[in-house]
Amino acid sequence: WPKDVGILALEVYFPAQYVDQTDLEKYNNVEAGKYTVGLGQTHMGFCSVQEDINSLCLTVVQRLMERTQLPWDSVGRLEVGTETIIDKSKAVKTVLMELFQDSGNTDIEGIDTTNACYGGTASLFNAANWMESSSWDGRYAMVVCGDIAVYPNGNARPTGGAGAVAMLIGPKAPLALEQGLRGTHMENVYDFYKPNLASEYPMVDGKLSIQCYFRALDRCYTSYRQKIQNQWKQAGNDRPFTLDDLQYMIFHTPFCKMVQKSLARLMFSDFLSASRDTPSSLYKGLEAFRGLKLEDTYNNKDLDKALLKASQDTFNKKTKASLYLSTHNGNMYTSSLYGCLASLLSSHSAQELAGSRIGAFSYGSGLAASFFSFRVSQDASPGSPLDKLVSSTSDLPKRLASRKCVSPEEFTEIMNQREQFYHKVNFSPPGDTSSLFPGTWYLERVDELHRRTYARRP
Ligand code: CAA
Repeated sequence: WPKDVGILALEVYFPAQYVDQTDLEKYNNVEAGKYTVGLGQTHMGFCSVQEDINSLCLTVVQRLMERTQLPWDSVGRLEVGTETIIDKSKAVKTVLMELFQDSGNTDIEGIDTTNACYGGTASLFNAANWMESSSWDGRYAMVVCGDIAVYPNGNARPTGGAGAVAMLIGPKAPLALEQGLRGTHMENVYDFYKPNLASEYPMVDGKLSIQCYFRALDRCYTSYRQKIQNQWKQAGNDRPFTLDDLQYMIFHTPFCKMVQKSLARLMFSDFLSASRDTPSSLYKGLEAFRGLKLEDTYNNKDLDKALLKASQDTFNKKTKASLYLSTHNGNMYTSSLYGCLASLLSSHSAQELAGSRIGAFSYGSGLAASFFSFRVSQDASPGSPLDKLVSSTSDLPKRLASRKCVSPEEFTEIMNQREQFYHKVNFSPPGDTSSLFPGTWYLERVDELHRRTYARRP
């Protein structure tokens, strides 16, 4: 099989406008700090009526191909992960073929994968599995994940966002997926789901969704830890795995505060499984919670406080930098985890990252979740694949800063328009395309048979 299959290149797209969460707190008449401190969000990106899931994905694929300068026929598999469904049959992937078919490449496997925010990770696993199988034809795979995360007026609305990530998958990758090390947890729950096909909005039980996320995290981490320890044991190394063995840790990020709590939970999981003679300085302030079981601690505020304190330095070192895009753009559902990866890369040098292990937790409501890891290549020399990948993300803060801030009033008006125009036919979205970033694809028209056509802003 090809060696070190993983991410060779990566591209992020987010909308050109956002609403400030401090302004939104005032507008929604909630206490100052609820969104900015309580949820840890500063800005929320959102789409105008000219953008839909197809246009987001067209844009991010086009940008990735332009950046890598690869020929269009070098891609043999294209997977899309999304939960932003505008057609129950026709895959977003088929729309993306518009870009490839012009060059004559129609020999591309892969379609869409859907389960809430997990679809991007399932697509990544599918692409890597294809490359490591007898079906592989020697070409690259591409994974595209994207979503428009919108909620009706109410307490979930500030946890919205929008964006897409495209990843080029191949062998000898600077970010290689570690083989045999996926800890997965799946179960049947109704924490967040989208039964209403006439609306963009989900049904969500916020408190339950948080509990489900934590339970999935605990289970996936325990299973990952067991698998890596088994691998080590076979190689003659009989020591426990802990968070210290992950130099960086990224998470699916519905809102940033949740990720800080999640990192803290991993530390607590290590603490509970560590023997009593583990140096107590590592787990300062946690001794009082030794007798607890992970599953009994989802609403334990005293434990939350102690854990956040004990894990603050670890969070600052391993995770905080990965939250840059999420803080400034919000939840991107399937692409959230990969936006965190891009943020992590953009805030470190290739030298700092070389040789490290990056842990990743992917969560999709309903639910499907996995804990897995990337091994970063050792070679960080100028011009190396790692160096190229890292430098390609360095403009992220500048691009975010170039977006337009709109008022909560205008944001609400655009949300109302999206509701009004959702699935409307014989229609061209109103608005000025000059507010989109140059090079963005946008929805030009929906005809009377629901057929969509797209155009690209110069
Ligand atoms: N200053 C500082 N902090 C404040 C504050 C203030 N003035 N006012 C409130 N807070 C804090 C609260 O104490 C709380 O923090 P803790 O949980 O640490 O105590 C935090 O701000 C949020 O406040 P509430 O719990 O009162 O918020 P809420 O109930 O109104 O809504 C929510 C929060 C449930 C997350 C809601 O936004 C929601 O339903 N969002 C969508 C669902 C979601 O994101 N779920 C996450 C897991 S599911 C998943 O991961 C899949 C996915 O992508 C959707």
